[in-house]
Amino acid sequence: MKKFLITITFLLAVVSFAVASADGEAIYAKCKGCHGADGSKKAMGTGLPLKGQSEDELISKLKGYKDGSYGGAKKAIMASQAKRLSDKEIEEVSEYISKF
Ligand code: HEC
Repeated sequence: MKKFLITITFLLAVVSFAVASADGEAIYAKCKGCHGADGSKKAMGTGLPLKGQSEDELISKLKGYKDGSYGGAKKAIMASQAKRLSDKEIEEVSEYISKF
């Protein structure tokens, strides 16, 4: 019985991890065109590449675009992207990008 419970717990952990990362991946599908499949492209020739940035940096930048406190010359483009994401989606996509 104990072994069975350990196996179930392990499987649940694996499944929930897979689901969580699949969400980030699905959200990033909308960002790929401008930022590149691995985040190394300068979006529309401007800004910093996403690759190499930490989850915390990405979260604070995306929230900054949302509330208008962050951004460069083309911030209006990203503000419209970020406003479509919930805080939870911002966290999920940031976690996904931080692993590039
Ligand atoms: C239409 C093209 C386009 C799409 C789609 C797009 N971005 Fe951007 N992104 C940009 C541009 C342009 C900038 C630079 C904006 C500026 O001047 O601040 C940028 C900047 C960023 C930055 C800040 C980079 C930095 O370090 O300053 C983050 C983070 C980011 N984008 C994440 C995302 C995510 C996540 C998505 C998908 C939900 C996304 N972007 C979709 C064009 C795009």
